[in-house]
Amino acid sequence: MKNIYGILVFGVLSGLVLIEGQSLGIAETVKSSKSQPSAQASPQAGEQKSHKNESKWREKMQDLYRALVELTTDASSEQRFNAPANHSRIEKNTKKLMDRAHEMSEKGLSPDADPTIKMVSGLFQDETKRAYWALKSGNRAYARGILNQVSSYCIACHTRNNSGPSFASLPLEPVSKGLDALEQGRFYAATRQYDRALDTFLKVVDDPSAPIQRPLEWEQAIRSGLAIAVRVKKDPDQAQALVERVIASKKAPYFLKQDAAQWKVSIVKWREEIPRRALTEAGLHVEAMQLIAQARELQKYPMDHSADVLYLRATAVLHELMQTAPDGRFSQDALFLAGMCYDILRPLHLDDLHEIYYEACIQKIPHSPTAETCYRRYEQSTYEGYTGSSGTHIPEEMRLKLERLESLARPEKSINF
Ligand code: HEC
Repeated sequence: MKNIYGILVFGVLSGLVLIEGQSLGIAETVKSSKSQPSAQASPQAGEQKSHKNESKWREKMQDLYRALVELTTDASSEQRFNAPANHSRIEKNTKKLMDRAHEMSEKGLSPDADPTIKMVSGLFQDETKRAYWALKSGNRAYARGILNQVSSYCIACHTRNNSGPSFASLPLEPVSKGLDALEQGRFYAATRQYDRALDTFLKVVDDPSAPIQRPLEWEQAIRSGLAIAVRVKKDPDQAQALVERVIASKKAPYFLKQDAAQWKVSIVKWREEIPRRALTEAGLHVEAMQLIAQARELQKYPMDHSADVLYLRATAVLHELMQTAPDGRFSQDALFLAGMCYDILRPLHLDDLHEIYYEACIQKIPHSPTAETCYRRYEQSTYEGYTGSSGTHIPEEMRLKLERLESLARPEKSINF
């Protein structure tokens, strides 16, 4: 199974070299390609339909991959992005992202039952639509800003845990002259080339000037690398190698070194744990709860990042729970817990991921106690989001949304007060 899948992927993607490599002039030879089978077993029912959907899904992903290679190249330099000769290609590829995002959110297409897929497709679609209309209306700088960050959506879906294929290397590469190491790392993570992504993030972390000259990017490389080592690779050694570098960095800010020291403690404990293989819904739920309880104990204040390794591990388990039993008895709780973890891990890949989990949690079982808790969290996060130095200004559209969600969340009895 493993090999057949690998060969299939290898075959299809090497085909792309022939078609696309020429037009880009960047045909790379394929060094190797390996894959893991999906973690979730297809349910017996509708076996054929699910195969058909899997291959449709794969086609869409490969299409996204080609579009991302070209867009990453084009958006990497301002001059290239604005050169009239490139306008139609950029527009075509942006439209491709937008259309694929739309199709991905269609019911029943995803081979993965995790509701995250539909939620992230929705965000991805909104964002690519914005980029497309910005291009259409001549606002190129704004469009470029969005397109430069678009890989976050691919990464958010692909680095949830170790499900789905993983590639040692893929045939096409963005022309990388204009790409810095962080952008390269993000490209590799977005396209499931996890070993290359980790190596590249490590390079950023090792750069002694980065914590001073580009502190935000430096932190992003650390957190993205940690997410891959902990969730996709599930490898304490790789996670520790990264964390040790942060601790050893002479110029790292104090708070990050403090966090890193705590991450190391969590990683050492993790290595000593007896490996578990919870497979049932209840087992996965217990495991996630235990990790979150340990994480809370470690935190000194609510948004403290010192327990991130535990929260990353908890989210990997929660995604597994949502993949296994998207409508099971813990499904609403899983949405709530995922929202809470992503709230604390913020901003890991996407700023508003936690809010869409809270929203999905309210909608899953309206008027339930968990829905109420999710609403409180949602409302609080919204208020924080719209609060600046001049006070809190909630736009009308958002206020109406809050009202709608609140009436869904409240206990049924109190509706007619
Ligand atoms: C909404 C979630 C989501 C988003 C967004 C997403 N992907 Fe995927 N992608 C998946 C899933 C799920 C799989 C694995 C399916 C499986 O289990 O085989 C996948 C698989 C892939 C594959 C492997 C395809 C194969 O041949 O097996 C590639 C390549 C890929 N994605 C590229 C991308 C790129 C590039 C982007 C961003 C431009 C992207 N994806 C955005 C969910 C997503």
